[in-house]
Amino acid sequence: MKVLVCKDYKEMSVEGAKIVAEVMTKKPNAILGLATGSTPVGMYQELIALNKAGKIDFKDITTVNLDEYYPIEPTNDQSYRYFMNDNLFNHVNIDKNKTFVPLGNAKDGEEEAKRYEAFVRSLGGADIQVLGIGRNGHIAFNEPDTELVPVTHVTGLTEDTIDANARFFASADEVPKQALTMGMGTILSAKKIIILANGKGKHDAVMKMLKGTVTTSCPASFLNLHDDVTVLCDEDAYKG
Ligand code: F6R
Repeated sequence: MKVLVCKDYKEMSVEGAKIVAEVMTKKPNAILGLATGSTPVGMYQELIALNKAGKIDFKDITTVNLDEYYPIEPTNDQSYRYFMNDNLFNHVNIDKNKTFVPLGNAKDGEEEAKRYEAFVRSLGGADIQVLGIGRNGHIAFNEPDTELVPVTHVTGLTEDTIDANARFFASADEVPKQALTMGMGTILSAKKIIILANGKGKHDAVMKMLKGTVTTSCPASFLNLHDDVTVLCDEDAYKG
């Protein structure tokens, strides 16, 4: 794992955008694996600025997102589909038909998980996967547990994640209790991975991931199985 310690959130966002932009420049029809959450928002703003400045082109880009609440309507302003439109897709020249998020309104969650997994695999995996990390070391909705499901699946959310996400809802009661999520195997099928972490709250999870061993008690540690991972963090997340 390569580690790049940035002085602050802004620098981390700029550096993350540079890596994504480089992939897009080398391969104009690249497949970008994207994440939601507060961490990548600054990086998405940098990508929007690069697109507006004519430095990167989203015309032929395909995106696949990691996860989505289940059940939720894509039009719900708390859905990850809405988040992606609002924070990136609405502001760049991307063809929305080439942007994919698991369908939170699918009738059958298990079937949707199978379909999404097969779809991502049929693309050959993402050219670059952007990740955030949970305070407990979760990646997408792969929460610490005694076992992890490697492929896209329906999962229950832990109390910690419900609490962390409650800030986006009127109350913790309104946070959906399940999600559709890529598994660590799906995520590891990406050719290149960058993981962003900022703030002291992420320090313990980052350290556990950087220890170099693999444990289901820290899903992020599975990234040690991949040979092209760059950790981008600010000083708070790195030093604690
Ligand atoms: C969202 C996702 C989550 C977040 C994680 C960190 O697609 O994959 O695992 O990356 O919960 O969230 P923030 O960035 O809000 O701290």
